[in-house]
Amino acid sequence: MAEETVKEDKSPITPTETGNSIFSIDLRPKFIELPKLGDDKTKVNIRYPLIAPFAFAHIYWDDKEKSIVYDVEEPKISETDTKLLKLIKMGLEEMINISFVKSKKHNVLLEYLEKNVQSILIELGAKVDDATYQKLMYYIYRDAVGFNDVEPMMMDYYIEDIECNGVGFPVYIVHRKYANLKTNLVYKELKELADFIEKLAQRAGRYVSYARPLLDGTLPDGSRVNATYSEDVTTRGPTYTIRKFTKEPWTPIHLIRNNTAPASSFAFIWLAIESKLNVMVIGETASGKTTFLNTILHFIPPEARICSIEDTRELNISHDNWLPAVTREGFGIPNIAGKTYGEVTLFDLLKETFRQNPDYVIVGEVRGNEAYVLFQGMASGHPSFGTFHAGGVETLVRRLETPPINLPGTLIESLDVVCVCIHLKEKRKSIRRLKQVVEIMEVSQELGKIDSNVMFEWVPTDDEFATKEDSYVMKKISDRTGQSIEEIKEELEKRTRLLEALADKNILSHKEVTKIISSYYKNPQGVLEEFGIK
Ligand SMILES: Nc1ncnc2c1ncn2[C@@H]1O[C@H](COP(=O)(O)OP(=O)(O)OP(=O)(O)O)[C@@H](O)[C@H]1O
Ligand SMILES: [Mg+2]
Repeated sequence: MAEETVKEDKSPITPTETGNSIFSIDLRPKFIELPKLGDDKTKVNIRYPLIAPFAFAHIYWDDKEKSIVYDVEEPKISETDTKLLKLIKMGLEEMINISFVKSKKHNVLLEYLEKNVQSILIELGAKVDDATYQKLMYYIYRDAVGFNDVEPMMMDYYIEDIECNGVGFPVYIVHRKYANLKTNLVYKELKELADFIEKLAQRAGRYVSYARPLLDGTLPDGSRVNATYSEDVTTRGPTYTIRKFTKEPWTPIHLIRNNTAPASSFAFIWLAIESKLNVMVIGETASGKTTFLNTILHFIPPEARICSIEDTRELNISHDNWLPAVTREGFGIPNIAGKTYGEVTLFDLLKETFRQNPDYVIVGEVRGNEAYVLFQGMASGHPSFGTFHAGGVETLVRRLETPPINLPGTLIESLDVVCVCIHLKEKRKSIRRLKQVVEIMEVSQELGKIDSNVMFEWVPTDDEFATKEDSYVMKKISDRTGQSIEEIKEELEKRTRLLEALADKNILSHKEVTKIISSYYKNPQGVLEEFGIK
């Protein structure tokens, strides 16, 4: 099979002080359509640019490994040039201000970097041809501004996670389209990996050391990073996982288009959110809970006052009246209540939030005693959303009712809608689906027992979604607003058709979708007409 290479753009070229052309790379986020893998895996051979024109991803069948692998391909440089690169890097270390490197935009940084490289080259009296100069600049950029060997993967739209399990073991990635793949990146030296983890910590504004070997933070681009620094915590030496942040937040339209959930389920959740009902998104690890929660936040009315609380910043919406808060680690020995000095927990933040009388409260991930405050908030009429780790509604209720959370059933009943996400990995295919949308009716006295109504359900055999006619939530909305069930169903139909029209027209950007939903709140008829819906 022929290699599938995607062409890149070139920027205009102007000379620098050393007579080389200005270094240019294409850092625009790319979305490249990748083919589905055919039945014969041995024929797989796909190549696409990550940092054009220097770094490429090459996904192919490796006959030795008997599996599909992911190689990062970068320019080769000669031994002499490697030495020169080392000299330039040493010179730069003396000249460059790290805090500047951390804070400025890419193009400003590139210019600054190139100026310094120019002076070093002149000082060294080194003359290099243009092609070599570009390659050297690439590596300098990659290691000074970027994340070293991992930088090309950070630029790969299709990578979800980057996982390093220690020295001498290949780094694995989770690919959106082709699931788990082994890469050609292996850390050979302990020092190299430890230095890299220090870099991750520094970029996340955290501190790691042998005394504090665990890192949990957010990188400047929003990606989440977890790492262990010393050998005694994990036996294979330092490790790290980077959960990449989707730069452009996903909208419901992305999830309609990739068949995660049907437009009708989003229309239903939209109505529930507008009617100030409480929604929880649940699922196993990495099933897509946070992503799903972020998409449905687009349905919050544009003027509402929103407060969100998270351990690490993942949620991303553009409502003007949004107050995002993040917990803070403390330090020192925990006091009698188990808290360290300066620590700010979800519980603290949530108590504070309800005092500020928000229209909507969002807790990124509900885990412990903050659940009590959250459910009290829900019960007292503050619509709240959050994610929770549980594979199904029964498990959710059982976990909420038992230690350490211990919620009474009556409080759990304030929850109106539960969305269940699943992630299936099979035969190199990774699929995420909204498994169910469940309406909570009554929580019984018996532990873990509830009455509920599954409004939407994914049917795996034909990859379709089944919908119920009768809805408990619609009755609630009818009681609250005085609209008849018929009127609510009509409204649901209109919104479904609108979301379908957006999906058909491929209108999925965060900006556009936010604008259309916001206009719908002000002038629904106008928006429907614009999309030809009667
Ligand atoms: N519907 C989807 N379709 C395709 N990819 C998705 C979908 N939802 C999430 N992803 C991708 O899956 C990865 C995990 O998603 P996410 O962080 O939302 O999961 P999570 O359930 O919140 O994980 P955790 O348990 O770690 O909190 C992300 O890289 C995300 O981009
Ligand atoms: Mg999550």
